[in-house]
Amino acid sequence: MLRELTVTDAPTLFAIESLHNPFPWSLRQFHDSFAMGDFGWGLERANLLIGFILFSQVLDETTLLNLVIHPQWRRRGFARQLLIQGLRQLEQAGAVRCLLEVRVSNFNAIELYSLLGFEVDGKRRDYYPAANGREDALLMSRFLPFREEV
Ligand SMILES: CC(C)(COP(=O)(O)OP(=O)(O)OC[C@H]1O[C@@H](n2cnc3c(N)ncnc32)[C@H](O)[C@@H]1OP(=O)(O)O)[C@@H](O)C(=O)NCCC(=O)NCCS
Repeated sequence: MLRELTVTDAPTLFAIESLHNPFPWSLRQFHDSFAMGDFGWGLERANLLIGFILFSQVLDETTLLNLVIHPQWRRRGFARQLLIQGLRQLEQAGAVRCLLEVRVSNFNAIELYSLLGFEVDGKRRDYYPAANGREDALLMSRFLPFREEV
């Protein structure tokens, strides 16, 4: 089941994110994100959140802030489902473009975004902290509406 996230989900989002990310958002960052008006959807199985997607929107441009699927539930099309759902809702809310940043080493996510029609716009050098220094961000975006052709 897909449902809209609220600030009360922040501890669960923090817990899911911390499972995979050595540099996770803090609980405070999740709270601040909701307080600033960011929004998103979560995917539930047996009343437990197993993944989520978060966006921010400024005028007609939206940014994908975070997308995580619990490690036990990966490779079942859930990230794809969340992203498609998110893009469709955003389109209805008037968004014409979706932007994102992703670690250059995150091949799985880059593959997913490419499949869903995102194209590379450039790189932001040393954007992320990494185990041995810093890592570049790949900047990607796609225009809406989302269509099934991708
Ligand atoms: C990236 C992530 C969200 C993908 O979630 P998922 O539910 O497993 O992805 P899906 O099952 O929807 O996969 C859709 C497509 O993405 C690509 N993909 C996803 N995971 C992959 C993997 N481990 N290896 C290769 N390709 C992969 C494939 O093309 C896949 O299609 P296919 O299964 O038909 O081959 C998940 O691995 C995750 O939570 N990673 C940690 C958080 C993260 O990196 N988020 C992105 C931050 S920008």
